[in-house]
Amino acid sequence: MLLLTIETSCDETAAAVVRDGRQVLSNIVASQIAIHAEYGGVVPEIASRRHMESIVQVVDEALRTAGVAMADLEGIAVTRGPGLIGALLVGLCAAKGIAAGRGIPLVGLHHIESHLLAIFLEQEVEFPFIALVVSGGHSHLYEVTGIGRYRTLGQTLDDAAGEAFDKVAKLLGIPYPGGAEIDRLADEGNPAQVRFPRPLLHDGSLNFSFSGLKTAVLSHLRQHPDQRSGQALNDLCASFQAAVCDVLVAKAAAALAATGCQRLVVAGGVACNSGLRRAMASMADRNGIELSIPSPGLCSDNAAMLAVAGDWYLRHCHGGGLGLDAVATWPLDAVTPALAEDC
Ligand code: KG4
Ligand code: ZN
Repeated sequence: MLLLTIETSCDETAAAVVRDGRQVLSNIVASQIAIHAEYGGVVPEIASRRHMESIVQVVDEALRTAGVAMADLEGIAVTRGPGLIGALLVGLCAAKGIAAGRGIPLVGLHHIESHLLAIFLEQEVEFPFIALVVSGGHSHLYEVTGIGRYRTLGQTLDDAAGEAFDKVAKLLGIPYPGGAEIDRLADEGNPAQVRFPRPLLHDGSLNFSFSGLKTAVLSHLRQHPDQRSGQALNDLCASFQAAVCDVLVAKAAAALAATGCQRLVVAGGVACNSGLRRAMASMADRNGIELSIPSPGLCSDNAAMLAVAGDWYLRHCHGGGLGLDAVATWPLDAVTPALAEDC
């Protein structure tokens, strides 16, 4: 099945063409980062307007790069939620327009489901596996027993991991979104220089909490206002990143142990982090765990990642059709019942 996929849940206007849920023919991402950086974060109204300006061009480019015509498409998958409602609506309306115009089926997908299945575009992973999804809006651990079969094991009680990276970056004077820049500076720093707290490390749950860590960085900066540059900044970035990674790795290991699962998938924008990738690889090595992390381009927001679930649902269900609405909040565990209505 030749699918067009569209993603506009936050600040990336993205479209892709994928064959049979695996073969990526194009994957176009138009980032709005430069626009939002001026405000220190995503401004929802500006994001919606920018999606409207870009969506037609991005879809056209996805088709052109893939070398296919609109008439060749056999289905459409679009992000339905969770995300910024105005931003989601732009992608959803574009998808409905094309589906109605071409008379092809449409399915609305969960953004986090797309992130955690992105790995299938590069390799097959056997079920069951544990998925750690770490992005700007999510820090969740799931047990995945099949497509559409997700059980939440733990989640953040406050800030998401990406949010923590971005907020700490802001404290350090690094422009939004600062995750990738912290990663780069941390590479030159000493992770043992400042001992930041590891929140909830030993609480026995599989939950996360990152807002206290952000406050710890703020208190440290108040005591050492001169550490926002040079080697001291590199050391701060490395020390903060080490604290986040220690917690993410320990909780992922605990989820594997609690379920007896032998496979781990790490996904979402924060899975680009080089320190996290290294730390997860060494934990997996020590514990005999099969670890899979997508290439960075498939970790951060993109449209190709929708094709895995999109292809599956369109084969097994009717999809949501033209009555689909966007949803700002949507627990992943509720995905199967919602889509099952159409199955
Ligand atoms: O998955 P994503 O592209 O969008 C959401 O669904 O949120 O994730 C974006 C998040 C941002 O918070 C960004 O700072 C973070 O991922 N991020 C990183 C890195 N690259 C992106 N965080 C740490 N290290 C990185 N290399
Ligand atoms: Zn995302």
